[in-house]
Amino acid sequence: MQIRENEPLSKHSTWRVGGPAKFFVEAVSSDTVIEAIEWARSEKIKFVVIGGGTNILPADSGYDGLIIKVTNRQIRVEGDRVIATAGAITSMVARAAAEASLTGLEWAVTIPGTIGGAVVGNAGCFGGEMSQVVEEVQVVRHVARGGQLAVLKNSELDFSYRHSALKGSDITLLEVTMKLKPGDTDQIKTTMDQWITKRKESQPLGSSCAGCVFKNPEGDSAGRLIDVTGLKGQTVGGASVSTDHANFILNDGTATADHIIQLISLIKTRVRDEFGIQLEEEVQYIGT
Ligand code: EPU
Repeated sequence: MQIRENEPLSKHSTWRVGGPAKFFVEAVSSDTVIEAIEWARSEKIKFVVIGGGTNILPADSGYDGLIIKVTNRQIRVEGDRVIATAGAITSMVARAAAEASLTGLEWAVTIPGTIGGAVVGNAGCFGGEMSQVVEEVQVVRHVARGGQLAVLKNSELDFSYRHSALKGSDITLLEVTMKLKPGDTDQIKTTMDQWITKRKESQPLGSSCAGCVFKNPEGDSAGRLIDVTGLKGQTVGGASVSTDHANFILNDGTATADHIIQLISLIKTRVRDEFGIQLEEEVQYIGT
């Protein structure tokens, strides 16, 4: 296990912001994830596990602990199950399912980041979400001495909209087993292409951003609400509200985490004042 010091988190967040992590480990295998957790526990250092960095907002001051970035990227198919380690790229998992003529993950081809992050945050779009396909997960619990391996079934994961029991818990995901249904590869790929086109039409792909910033309030779209307040295009420093989809904040290359935080605060105030609705962040703060 190689421990790096003062690693800039801007290199590991798709928003391209964030100061240095005091310690940083890239975990290429599940064993390294466990080793890193054990090291942090024994040294009494706080730690956070990240995946593709697509849904995080690291502070400009960085993180005074250990960041474990999971890059264990194994994917295998067994009958109608796809089994992937936490660091596998979600779109690659969806493509592996398509190649194996398994249906149920078509929507996931448009989800950025890792499958681990997708499970923990119960990612979803176009009517699909991880809770519909997860059968079980292999996890490590952070107990006093080292880690303790366990398998949790879907019913134990307390899935709800953008939430699972793993979020903010002292349990780290190592591997996920997804149960799918037999389908037709060509049909699956056609559906995937449709979702990719749909996403390109409505969301700012290819920009430095972190997907949707806020969760949708019940029965409404945060993007729609922010749009109605007239905040599309609003800037704070190098951060701006996307003109394509108002629930996205873009970094023009000069934004700091602080610019984004100020813009988030402005949006929340405006939506609260106009609609009496308190928006809640979908992105996870690190070190703030
Ligand atoms: N809308 C506006 N203005 C905007 C954005 C949206 O008027 O700037 C309107 C749309 O016209 C539409 C409605 O709001 O009538 C809903 O918009 P959209 O279909 O884009 O869906 P959303 O609720 O904004 C959710 C997810 C996305 C996911 C899409 C597609 C959340 C917070 N967002 O967005 O997920 O890709 O549905 O299924 O749940 C993410 O979580 O990071 C994310 C991007």
